Amino acid sequence: MAREAFIMEKTETLKDGTKVTIRNLTVEDLDRLMSFYRSLPEEDIKYLRVDVTNKNIVKQRIEFAKAGDIFRIIALKGDSIIADGALELTTEEWRRHQGELRVIVAEEFRRKGVGMIIMRELYFLAMEKKVEKVVAKMMKPQIAARTICMTLGFHEELVIPDYVKDQTGNFQDLIIMTCDIQELWKELDQFYMDSDWERCR
Ligand SMILES: CC(C)(COP(=O)(O)OP(=O)(O)OC[C@H]1O[C@@H](n2cnc3c(N)ncnc32)[C@H](O)[C@@H]1OP(=O)(O)O)[C@@H](O)C(=O)NCCC(=O)NCCS
Repeated sequence: MAREAFIMEKTETLKDGTKVTIRNLTVEDLDRLMSFYRSLPEEDIKYLRVDVTNKNIVKQRIEFAKAGDIFRIIALKGDSIIADGALELTTEEWRRHQGELRVIVAEEFRRKGVGMIIMRELYFLAMEKKVEKVVAKMMKPQIAARTICMTLGFHEELVIPDYVKDQTGNFQDLIIMTCDIQELWKELDQFYMDSDWERCR
């Protein structure tokens, strides 16, 4: 069942002063999204769950998101996408209270706060959708993803050895992290309170 959810388009300032636009991803963004994915380091692409260099797959995923319970947002600098985030809900009754978060940031914009901005927007969407528990899944080598999740209060619940295959066909351990939605807000709020960057904005 399609359940529309939109964030208001907004402008945010990164730690280095760069202005970025945050908005929903639409089907019209396909070419921009392909350029963004093509610019990612091979090492990152390798650990993504689908082959994002394949335009048909990327297109299908945007269309699927439009029709389903996946909400996708992007950050843009000018006309270029610099980050992509998603909140994925499930139709399974027993996991109806869960929402999976995903985020990926262009290499040259990392450690400037884009990841946190996207996480905060996904949090607002998750609240709107009455999510109680947020989940993040990653392959073991995705250290930055694990670190940002730990910063946000996620706990490592499970490591399943050799459970998934990366894009080169090698088995990888899957890490599942979870966090209560209230805990996530506490950590997000704390992060912004502690941040000189936020105080200077
Ligand atoms: C994980 C990722 C999204 C983080 O995005 P980002 O914009 O660099 O994150 P932020 O600048 O908002 O970082 C917020 C905090 O997370 C932590 N963090 C983020 N990246 C980190 C890293 N490489 N090492 C250590 N801590 C890190 C820090 O506490 C950081 O705060 P600080 O910079 O004030 O110390 C980005 O590194 C990325 O796209 N990685 C590759 C793709 C990926 O693994 N995606 C996750 C799949 S679920």
